[in-house]
Amino acid sequence: MAAAPRSCRPWGSLPGLLALVSAATATWDLTSLRCNFGSFCECDFRPDLAGLECDLAQHLAGQHLAKALVLKSLKAFVQDPAPNKPLVLSLHGLSGTGKSYVSSLLAKYLFRGGLHSPHVHHFSPIIHFSHPNHIERYKKDLKSWVQGNLTACGRSLFLFDEMDKLPLGLMEVLRPFLGASWVVYGTNYRKAIFIFISNTGGEQINQVALEAWRSRRDREEIELQELEPIISRAVLDNPHHGFWHSGIMEEHLLDAVVPFLPLQRHHVRHCVLNELAHLGLEPQDEVVQAVLDSTTFFPEEEQLFSSNGCKTVASRIALFL
Ligand SMILES: *[C@@H]1O[C@H](CO)[C@@H](O)[C@H](O)[C@H]1NC(C)=O
Repeated sequence: MAAAPRSCRPWGSLPGLLALVSAATATWDLTSLRCNFGSFCECDFRPDLAGLECDLAQHLAGQHLAKALVLKSLKAFVQDPAPNKPLVLSLHGLSGTGKSYVSSLLAKYLFRGGLHSPHVHHFSPIIHFSHPNHIERYKKDLKSWVQGNLTACGRSLFLFDEMDKLPLGLMEVLRPFLGASWVVYGTNYRKAIFIFISNTGGEQINQVALEAWRSRRDREEIELQELEPIISRAVLDNPHHGFWHSGIMEEHLLDAVVPFLPLQRHHVRHCVLNELAHLGLEPQDEVVQAVLDSTTFFPEEEQLFSSNGCKTVASRIALFL
């Protein structure tokens, strides 16, 4: 019997709140402290990193690098009242490994309204930029949206999904927003967060994870230094990735390249248990087994990694309940 899921709600406890307040008093001036409690000064930006850490530890299966990297970059960024550039994260890995999940947790623990906050902006190529012929209009729109939203609130989150399906050239308009020098109308835009998601580099990450397994290395021993250069290379070599010739990689505007490793059988199991708990159900061995049996694994020989991670776990559980 699994323990009832611990809750990781924002502002979970009064002691937590008090700790945050005293930390804030130590480092922030009075104006920003007041802003933190006002309703509009810092928009609805209410970072709860302890909550984020707790949720990641509990629910994100098999991603030691992503977990550590995301928390580390956020901590440094959020605790700095005057960051010298926006936080720019690029998430990479096979589908179903947790990239969108991590992004939604970031929204949830950074903004009071979570994904529904008016300061969280989610762009998807199919919805927002589907016609390659309209590229000039898209460029104009995107630039004015980002600029308009940053004028309304410096603490905005911009999330770009499926970076490898964006029309060529669109990301050029973002480059100026990602660096250290972008100051317009006296407003500085350095408090924003940009997150880019793609599968690019996924194959290469899988290869490293597979080789580690074959040479009996512990998965947790895989280090960022092994993955970062090959992911960057895969992005630079992919003409379909939004960063293609945008200057964004070349000018080192990314604060972190975040790898998501392919998931093994026990990770998929973890996802099934999470999902059952989420539905308010007890762990059920038959359901767990049925979902695992209907999961395809690769490579052919070792049957090691789930082909689509945990992506379809939720919908398949429904079939076996
Ligand atoms: C903010 O971004 C959204 C898209 O997410 C756009 O529809 C809206 O017009 C933008 N707001 C401003 C003030 O530009």
